[in-house]
Amino acid sequence: MVNALGKLKDLYQNTLLIIIEPTEGPILQIQGKFLETLRARLSIAEVVGEKVKLTRKGREFMGLCPFHHEKTPSFTVNEEKEFYHCFGCGAHGDAIGFLMEAQKYSFMEAVKELASRVGLSLPEETSEKGGTSQEDLTPLRQVLQEASAWFHNNLFLARYSESLRYAERRSLKTETLKKFNIGFAPEGSSPLEKYLKTKGFSDEILLAAGLLAQGETTRPPYERFRKRLMFPIQDAQGRVVAFGGRLLDKGEPKYLNSPETPLFSKGKLLYGYYQAKEKANTEPLIVVEGYMDVISLHQAGFKGAVAPLGTALTEDQIVLAWRLSPEPILCFDGDGAGLKAAARAAERVLPLLKPGYSLRFAILPQGEDPDSLVQKGDRFQMVLNQAHSLVDALWLFLTHGKNFKTPEQKAALQKQCALWTQGIQDGEIKKHYHYAFKDLFYKNIVGKKANIQSLSPLRKTNLNLSSIYEHLLLAILINHPILLDEASDDLASLEFKEPKLHDLRNGILHFYAAGPLDEMNLKDYLLKQGFEKELDDIFSSRVLIHGAFASPSSSFEGAREGWKEIFNRIQHGLGKKDLQEAQEHLAEEMSEEAWHRLKALKKTTLLQY
Ligand code: GTP
Ligand code: MN
Repeated sequence: MVNALGKLKDLYQNTLLIIIEPTEGPILQIQGKFLETLRARLSIAEVVGEKVKLTRKGREFMGLCPFHHEKTPSFTVNEEKEFYHCFGCGAHGDAIGFLMEAQKYSFMEAVKELASRVGLSLPEETSEKGGTSQEDLTPLRQVLQEASAWFHNNLFLARYSESLRYAERRSLKTETLKKFNIGFAPEGSSPLEKYLKTKGFSDEILLAAGLLAQGETTRPPYERFRKRLMFPIQDAQGRVVAFGGRLLDKGEPKYLNSPETPLFSKGKLLYGYYQAKEKANTEPLIVVEGYMDVISLHQAGFKGAVAPLGTALTEDQIVLAWRLSPEPILCFDGDGAGLKAAARAAERVLPLLKPGYSLRFAILPQGEDPDSLVQKGDRFQMVLNQAHSLVDALWLFLTHGKNFKTPEQKAALQKQCALWTQGIQDGEIKKHYHYAFKDLFYKNIVGKKANIQSLSPLRKTNLNLSSIYEHLLLAILINHPILLDEASDDLASLEFKEPKLHDLRNGILHFYAAGPLDEMNLKDYLLKQGFEKELDDIFSSRVLIHGAFASPSSSFEGAREGWKEIFNRIQHGLGKKDLQEAQEHLAEEMSEEAWHRLKALKKTTLLQY
């Protein structure tokens, strides 16, 4: 495990760091000196000790490493040097790094958290939104915390027994009610308000926290949540920042959320994130639609479940999810609206993609949600197992149930794929999407004609990939010499690895340069030039089986697409090298990750193994 902060560390000794955190908006400038002071005041053993049981061994502390599985401790914390180090897995960093790596804080969250612990205030902090400064938020936090405890306590009171009965009807266990601090907001004459006033909170604070709502200005404010099962919404550090409430009875609106407050922006948090964070290293991160889905899933053992707060997944939420997992699985309803929402999420993530980070898409059976599925045995796991990769999901959304027969329809399809590809910011990923869409197009739209066959026949021959490519390119041109009008420059730019084939390529260029194509057949010309054996090879079934577009009976259109495809692949050297590497990696390390990598590569590679 490499600590990303390791590199930052040298930088932040004396320099001015400017950190831009998309999830937190403002730009904070932090002096290297400030971080030095912060680290000096902190006890790293204390910070680490909250998560890892440490015992003193001479000058150091030792414990079981939280970053890898071990039975005997190889994880050390050095107070003097202000770092932790694991001799088992190489994890290394300071207190800030520890919060980031072990507790999934962002850099700024870690700095803020640690600074507040040692009573340091952040220098030159751009104020949080609305100009509210850090201190102003304390009463808000306190009132929300008090309210949350009060709601939770209500759930177990005899006079509100209907609420616990409701929770039981929804199959929620006591342990689950506690883990999520689920509560109950009764109706009546402002019971919450009365309670909080006895604790010294004012109407203003209750309004600012969203617990009271102001209707018509002349009327007194009223309690926002009445006769609802209450779900406290926590930030990444577990602090209550808002509530969601579900009506016990039928009615509208079924769910009600706190309004936006200085502590709560619904597009920037994920419900269940704090609980999912605990299991981020072992559980897949699953993004579902609602509160009840998150809670049911956790209860059923899917401890990586989170949900946006009643809106479609935002960019901020995707970035947040990536902190816990490189490939969160998004769950969507299988109906039309669900698929549309999935398609929007898929499009939204394209500009954000970075190597290794993506989304997966699980489509639920119609009429079910994750909550209903986990009540029916292992059906939810089956849905997860069938999750689509992003590229497959995009393709599916675009082509599902549609026909692409006419040239115009095919072009429209390719155009959309090209638009999506263009929307990807990362150059490497963009390149791979380009090929992946092409593959999908050949396999599913051009169909059998240009279908590139499985590699199993390739294994039986002793041709390697680049040799196959070379043979195929030549076959295409010999069958469709007219293609030379547009392909001769490309052909001339290629170095063929096999000397005999290189000679043959020269022969073709010579033939093309010599004059009108229809005067003599290219194949006859090449035979006359003594390429009989090569031509036999090129037109043997062991070559043609890899690309029907190269066979004499192929259509011009198919041949043309085949030429472009293979030419691109040769030019970019894509396929063989990457695949070989991935395969070697898998041989060394039989991990799921290595397997996924190989699988992902194969998808974007011409020949399928
Ligand atoms: P249950 O009916 O309790 O099982 O909830 P559910 O999660 O299955 O509800 P549904 O699929 O209808 O809604 C999913 C999510 O959308 C909820 O968790 C809420 O966040 C949000 N939502 C649903 N209904 C409303 C509503 O009436 N108002 C608002 N603001 N949000 C809603
Ligand atoms: Mn439901």
